[in-house]
Amino acid sequence: MNMLPWDAGVMSNANEMFQFDPGMTDLIFEYCRNRLAEDPVPLDFGGIATNFEEALEGLITPQGQDARAILDRYDKVISKAIISVDSPRFLSFIPAAPTKASLLFDMVVSASSLNGTSWLEGAGTIAAENQVLKFLSRAAGLDDHAGGCFVSGGSTGNLSALVVARDRARRNNPALAGRRLRFAVSEEAHSSIAGALRVIDVDALIVPTIDHRFTIEQLLAVLESDQDPETVVAIVATGGTTNAGIVDDLEGLGQYAREHELWFHVDGAYGGAAMLSTLRGDLFKGMRHVDSFIVDPHKWLFAPFDCAALIYRNPEEAKKTHTQTAAYLDIIHDEEKQEWNPTDYAIHLTRRSRGLPIWFSLCVYGTDAYVAAVDDGIRIAEHAAHVIEAHPNLELIRPPGLSIVLFRRKGWSDEHYNEWSEKLLRDQIGFVTPTKWEGETVARFAFLHPETSNEMVAEILATMN
Ligand SMILES: Cc1ncc(COP(=O)(O)O)c(C=O)c1O
Repeated sequence: MNMLPWDAGVMSNANEMFQFDPGMTDLIFEYCRNRLAEDPVPLDFGGIATNFEEALEGLITPQGQDARAILDRYDKVISKAIISVDSPRFLSFIPAAPTKASLLFDMVVSASSLNGTSWLEGAGTIAAENQVLKFLSRAAGLDDHAGGCFVSGGSTGNLSALVVARDRARRNNPALAGRRLRFAVSEEAHSSIAGALRVIDVDALIVPTIDHRFTIEQLLAVLESDQDPETVVAIVATGGTTNAGIVDDLEGLGQYAREHELWFHVDGAYGGAAMLSTLRGDLFKGMRHVDSFIVDPHKWLFAPFDCAALIYRNPEEAKKTHTQTAAYLDIIHDEEKQEWNPTDYAIHLTRRSRGLPIWFSLCVYGTDAYVAAVDDGIRIAEHAAHVIEAHPNLELIRPPGLSIVLFRRKGWSDEHYNEWSEKLLRDQIGFVTPTKWEGETVARFAFLHPETSNEMVAEILATMN
């Protein structure tokens, strides 16, 4: 007969749950040690037709079960049904390549339950996280007044920044009261921008692009024929589009925004890391104009999930929007003490000190190692582009944008690309999903793992002969 939780009574493991268990600790540490030692990390399989119901049946019970048996089930069934995003053969969407130091320190963050909500609770970790934010804001060309916090991902970062942009526009433009506000965005902006605008109830002024890049000329052309240009209160640009790695005209758009007191936000979730690049850093000079920007260390800055940096030129604007007031929180908001509460800068209250893994890693390896690793992603993209150009059956669609390469296999239909992609994964050669480019299904490589080799690229391309 099935026991209900409240029937478990005095026989439960409630005390044991909080006791140090050397056996279980060794078990988990051993597992983590083996995972960290995997070289290279195998791709494994994602949405395979495993019978999860059968595999998971009976695991959650009133009395609990042996940790070894559960870990075994995780190892044999669950972990095999996850494509390893940190495999150097994962070249779809946006991959991840967390450094060993960042992964190890993520375990410290977990083992220590590091809370980075308020200065009162977590001054130490917040100071260390802020050191990383300062490194990033200086790379963008902002002064040391800039600041923000780490959030769970680019989508939350974009939303948190854009709601501040909306509120500032409402505060600064009383004449617009009762009228709908608009943000100028390009048709290439990431889907999370459209989602954020829906949530904050702001309309998009969609600016068509020339060759998929949002430029000041295009913005001016659209504003010139607009009936209501004063309702456009912000510009949202992308520092590396997800599909093609294209960096918008940050300099032109940013300068215009500054001159016209519009909020300028740059979504650098994927590509913002290339600010550090010796090869493409020039494309990011216009970052110095931003009011807010995001860059995701869990993408091209080699941190574990989930970690996005959100930075404001004037953090006090963000505070006006995001500070949560409640009787029990008054204690963390003492204006005179000038303390830094990450909760004041985004849509969140309780938060893990998720910036600590990248902090530790940056300290251990040094910033030059990061610059070199970002450059590696660009170089492998350039190499792949050359090989594609020299291949009789392949066509490069455009020069790689940052570390993304789009190409076609002559004569292939949608089905060919899908079958090829599935077979590549089945054979554990690569995870390369197709995308759409100007309505056509094409192949796409997203590089960023420094251990993706020229040989791996050759092996994948050989399957398209
Ligand atoms: C340009 C851009 N913005 C936003 C996002 C969303 O980031 P996240 O998946 O961390 O929410 C992505 C994700 O790939 C992206 O490439």
